[in-house]
Amino acid sequence: MSTIRAAITGVNGYVPEYILTNEELSKMVDTTDKWIMERIGIKERHILREPKLGSSHLGAIAVEGLLKKTNTKPEDIDLLICATVTPDMQFPATANIISDKIGIRNAFSFDLNAGCSGFLYALNTASKYIESGLYKKVIVVGAEKMSSIVDYTDRSTCPIFGDGAGAILLEPTIENVGVIDSILRSDGVGRVHLHQKAGGSINPASHETVDAREHFIYQEGQAVFKWAVSKMADISVELMEKNNLNSEDLNWLVPHQANMRIIEATSRRMGIPNNKVMINIEKYGNTTAATLPLCLWEWEPKLKKGDNLILAAFGAGFTWGATYIKWAYNAN
Ligand code: UT7
Repeated sequence: MSTIRAAITGVNGYVPEYILTNEELSKMVDTTDKWIMERIGIKERHILREPKLGSSHLGAIAVEGLLKKTNTKPEDIDLLICATVTPDMQFPATANIISDKIGIRNAFSFDLNAGCSGFLYALNTASKYIESGLYKKVIVVGAEKMSSIVDYTDRSTCPIFGDGAGAILLEPTIENVGVIDSILRSDGVGRVHLHQKAGGSINPASHETVDAREHFIYQEGQAVFKWAVSKMADISVELMEKNNLNSEDLNWLVPHQANMRIIEATSRRMGIPNNKVMINIEKYGNTTAATLPLCLWEWEPKLKKGDNLILAAFGAGFTWGATYIKWAYNAN
């Protein structure tokens, strides 16, 4: 019997209209365009400013466009997984809300929280459903309204994050394309360095938690940076070795977009030149679970069937991982 693999057969992305520039940020906190560009590599980020709209709004637009692009009917979807750290509500799952908005009714759907590695974790989870032979059309969407948990009085975190969503369709194939291999890891010891202090069950919302500004991202930047640089590079090199890939075999590195210096350290270790690295951090900032599909969406016209891609991420948890994909189609 032939091996069933999960192939990405379509990709779509969406970012909200409003652009928050470094110039505007430098009027809100004590920072400069020069510092942000040199230390992080971000020029601007998109922000969902309309009130009462959350991550499901962004995710639903990305998924709706994906269905249109791939000529897929909502009723044919078997499963939708939403990777997010900024769900519309604590419960129900944002995946349920996106499915409802799009009319996906013959499916089950759930959220997956793995910080900035959320898309990679969800992609791998979804692949297993496809590889089982029981599921034929699975959507993975990374959707984040990071601006809902960013403290715009904290100069060490507010330049980093942006809002956006990216979605892919996975379908079975017996060709030698699709998701080939992955290595995923997590270590909860990292939670002290990157978390949201209040709003969960150990520290529910109260006047005190609001007054103490504990409903925002708390990050010890340098500690996270050190872990990210070593873990993202190590795991990507480990995946290359495991699959006998050298840098010439690789067509694209698709790295999580957290910091330009982390991206450069990873590509250097892998021996991948800059022109084979998908980088759009300058325009969108760190959109957490949406960075990888937003890259795939932007680079889709350049991707060719059979191209070798490594996707790599590191994020809160800590979580990290790398996935080897053979691209399944030529853009028309
Ligand atoms: O995707 C999830 C995973 N997250 C990450 O991968 C983020 C990893 N961390 C980073 O990307 C970097 O650590 C940051 C971008 C968060 C910070 O960059 P850094 O080079 O590590 O800066 P730092 O925290 O060591 O701060 C250096 C200096 C400090 O001033 P002093 O104490 O040396 O006087 C900060 O107060 O830079 C100052 N600083 C700023 N200055 C101007 C911090 N933020 C800013 C700012 N503008 N926005």
